[in-house]
Amino acid sequence: MCPVMEEKQHIGQLFDRIAGTYDGLNHGLSLNIDKRWRRKTVQQMPSVNHVLDVAIGTADLTIEMLRRGKAQQVTGLDLSKQMMAIGKQKVEQFLAAKGERVEAKEVEFVYGNAQHMPFDDASFDAVTCAYGCRNFQNLDEGLQEMFRVLKPGGQVTILEFSYPSNALVRALYDIYFTHILPTVGRIVSRDKTAYTYLNKSVKSFCWGEAFAQHMHDAGFADTRFIPLTFGITTIYTAKK
Ligand SMILES: C[S@@+](CC[C@H](N)C(=O)[O-])C[C@H]1O[C@@H](n2cnc3c(N)ncnc32)[C@H](O)[C@@H]1O
Repeated sequence: MCPVMEEKQHIGQLFDRIAGTYDGLNHGLSLNIDKRWRRKTVQQMPSVNHVLDVAIGTADLTIEMLRRGKAQQVTGLDLSKQMMAIGKQKVEQFLAAKGERVEAKEVEFVYGNAQHMPFDDASFDAVTCAYGCRNFQNLDEGLQEMFRVLKPGGQVTILEFSYPSNALVRALYDIYFTHILPTVGRIVSRDKTAYTYLNKSVKSFCWGEAFAQHMHDAGFADTRFIPLTFGITTIYTAKK
């Protein structure tokens, strides 16, 4: 069971508040391992034309897709305008450094809710979502929407935190998420509640078989999951 938390009702505002420090804290607190996790996620994707990146945030997954030539066109969806503003800047810088115009790769940022997507059925060749699912008020609605907008035969690729099975790693993980992340997050972002929410949202979320079952219930087939770094985080893939 994946419980619904109070903070999820205002999730866009929460990420708006921490957008400016989000990337630095992500990379700093994970010692840059998060970059490797996104790289591994993109390796699991097929190369296609048009990808929907749900909860695109500051666009790290999208940039990795572009870097690896996995998508010609990306539509990013998010409830935080501030996160997307930073993402747009980063995409522009990335493409400029590559000597390409943004339009040439057609990266589009759309404000909207993953549970009620403003897209037609079967619009995208592939769908991705990195660290977005646990923030949905209703996980099943979000997964059903991903299924609806994906073309038949297309792949969904999801990256989300999970819970390590090894007792020692689990103990370190608990210390990190209960003490280090909320404390450093509060000091750096100057937001009293956001990183306490992030800690709670990770620890109360489902993972592994339970998450794969939600994907299956949404209609997806051939559901697989790959735990990374002792199961701290997991990649899920499935087909429509
Ligand atoms: C932890 S960030 C992940 C951002 C990015 N994908 C990454 O890998 O860094 C979560 C993002 O999900 C967005 N989000 C949360 N709930 C959402 C929803 N229901 N619909 C769209 N975006 C949502 C937040 O605004 C935030 O930008």
